[in-house]
Formats: sequence, C-alpha cells, structure tokens
Amino acid sequence: MHIEAKHLTKSFGHFQATKDISFGIEKGKLIGLLGPSGGGKTTVLRLLAGLEQPDSGDILFHGKRVNDLPPQQRGIGFVFQNYALFRHMTVFENIAFGLQVQKRTKEQTKARVNELIELTGLKGFEKRLPHQLSGGQRQRVAFARAIAPEPQLLLLDEPFAAIDAKVRKELRTWLKDMIDRVGITTIFVTHDQEEAVEVADEIMIINAGRLEQQGTPLEIYSHPETPFVAGFIGESNQVEEPSRLKGFEQPQLTNAKAMIRPEFIEVGRPNEVSLATASELGTVRNVYFRGTNWQVEVEAGGSRLFAYRSMELPVLQAGDEVRVLIHRIYLFNQNGHVMQENGLKIDPMPVHI
Ligand SMILES: Nc1ncnc2c1ncn2[C@@H]1O[C@H](COP(=O)(O)OP(=O)(O)OP(=O)(O)O)[C@@H](O)[C@H]1O
Ligand SMILES: [Mg+2]
Repeated sequence: MHIEAKHLTKSFGHFQATKDISFGIEKGKLIGLLGPSGGGKTTVLRLLAGLEQPDSGDILFHGKRVNDLPPQQRGIGFVFQNYALFRHMTVFENIAFGLQVQKRTKEQTKARVNELIELTGLKGFEKRLPHQLSGGQRQRVAFARAIAPEPQLLLLDEPFAAIDAKVRKELRTWLKDMIDRVGITTIFVTHDQEEAVEVADEIMIINAGRLEQQGTPLEIYSHPETPFVAGFIGESNQVEEPSRLKGFEQPQLTNAKAMIRPEFIEVGRPNEVSLATASELGTVRNVYFRGTNWQVEVEAGGSRLFAYRSMELPVLQAGDEVRVLIHRIYLFNQNGHVMQENGLKIDPMPVHI
C-alpha cells in the first residue's frame, strides 16, 4: 500500500508529540522508524493505525484520505510495543484470532493459520501457551497473528526490545526475509540504529516530534542533513575549530562547528599512512580494544579525535607520536544544515555500514 502523511500534528494537552510530519512510503518497502525515546515514534504509528486522531494533517492510503476511517477498516496489522500474546490462548488460537474477527470459515482459518505456522517456523508449537515459548518464539507468534488477516500495512513497534542481543540479531534477519517473502509494506520502530540500518530499505529519523530525515541507510549515513542525524547515525567526533586541522584551513571553517566520523580518520606510524605528507602530527592519548578493531583517541590540531585502527597493524600506545590524516568532515551551518567538506582532494574512503 502506498502511504502518505501530510503535515501531521498531534498534541497531548499542551505537549506536541508530532510536529508537522510529512512523508511518503512506497508499496512493499520496509521502513525503519528511528529516534530517541519520547521522540514520537509510537504516536506516528498510532496515527497511521487510527488509534489517535491528528489535530491537523491528513493520512492517505493509495491516495485516499483515511482520517475518518476506523482502525479496523484500515487494513493494518500492528505488533505493539511490549505487547503480550493472549495468555490463555494457544499459539494456534492466537494466530487465528484476527481471522475469527473477520468471520472466516473454520476451514479457511485452519488453512491460513497452518500456512503461517509453516512460514514462521512454529510447526510443532501449535498447542503451546505463550509462557511455554521463548521470547523469540513469542515474537514470531505475534508477527504471525498480525499478518494473518492479510493487512496491507504492517506496523511493528520495537518488536524485539525485550530480547537479548544475539537472538535479536537472528530475529531481525528472519523478519526481513519474511517481509520480503510476504511483500507487505512495513514500518518497524526501533531505538537501535544498527538494527534499522541492517533491516530497512529506508530510514525515517524522528526527534522531538519532528521528522529530521528520510532516506536509504546509506544516504542518511553519508549525507546527514541535520546535526542531530549526523550525531545519531554512526559514530562521530564533534570538532570546535575545524580550520586548525591540516587540509581544512579555509576561512569558512573558522569558528564553524563540525563533525568527523572515526572511519574518515587514518592514524598510524609515518610509514603506514597514505599521503603521509598531507597528514599532521598527533599524539595518541588512549587505545581501546573493541573486539574487531582498536579505537584510538588521538590529539591533533587542537582536537581530541576518535579513530579506528585495524587489528592487523602494530599496536599503538598512549604517548606515541603519530600521523593523522582526515579524509572528510561535516560542517554545520547556522541554519542547522550539514554540508560536506572533502578537504584533501583525494577519493573519500569507502563507507562501511
Ligand atoms: N496518551 C498520551 N498522553 C500524554 N502524552 C503522551 C501520550 N502518548 C504519548 N505522549 C507523549 O508524547 C511523546 C511521544 O511519545 P511516543 O510514545 O510517541 O514516543 P516514542 O518515540 O515512541 O518513545 P519510546 O521510544 O520511548 O517508545 C512523549 O513525550 C510521551 O510522553
Ligand atoms: Mg514508543
């Protein structure tokens, strides 16, 4: 289903939970809705589902305004935040619930539930009650129950929040695969940027009731439009005086604020760094082991910067004199927009997400 939100504003008392939010979602896309706690993510889902009415603005499904359509006629499947299954119903009965509401025949219901049990890998669990399942299995039942009535839009509000990191990783791969197979337009809420980047075709970032940016994970990562997005997605170093960094001595960088991603900084012994002459001297202040690489805190050009260093290279130590090469920085202008400055005229480093 093609979805459009136009200027959605919603207040609770004097508090504006969403402020003039507009977006479009193409049919079949998996959208990651991302942002800090209290940003307005659940409110956006509830507005789309018809569980809240906007104070102003319109919601269109397939170009048709649905503001006045009750929730049950909007064709939406919803997995709520912290939502429990029906405790006294078996897996089979939970999944069948929406189909019975739709008044499907017994045979139709049975066929559809069995199809979903097969699809979600829950065969053999039909007669179990929710407390006899693992957290991951319960989420799969919740997912099956939401898509059983064949909704045109699926809303998932932090479906994996309560699940430990490893199972969560497996579940999100499973979810993406499942949604690709079912081909249903989906909005997936998460706090977790890594989860959104891995799963979503597109990401929407909501902060303090505003939509900061919408785009593919790569677009958002490599071209953040606001300082908030630049700091929220990926890792970053805030820099107060970028014009003191070698290669960025332009007048427009004086007194500007800037951000540098650790992966745009090379740190190493003089013989390691490419273009050693274009780099500046720095001093290592700390080195942290991150499991897959080293994180090096280095002082250069009046700033403290975090950079990564491969495990393959010789270990650096606090106090080492090093060369620091910065490939790219993001500048924040007065209007709160982000510009990109490539400084040195060399190819930007490949972006790893
Ligand atoms: N029914 C309500 N009455 C009053 N305030 C509300 C209501 N629902 C939400 N809010 C407020 O609106 C803001 C946005 O809430 P929302 O639940 O949309 O945030 P969220 O982004 O989903 O946060 P989280 O990540 O913690 O779930 C919050 O400050 C919240 O307290
Ligand atoms: Mg929420």
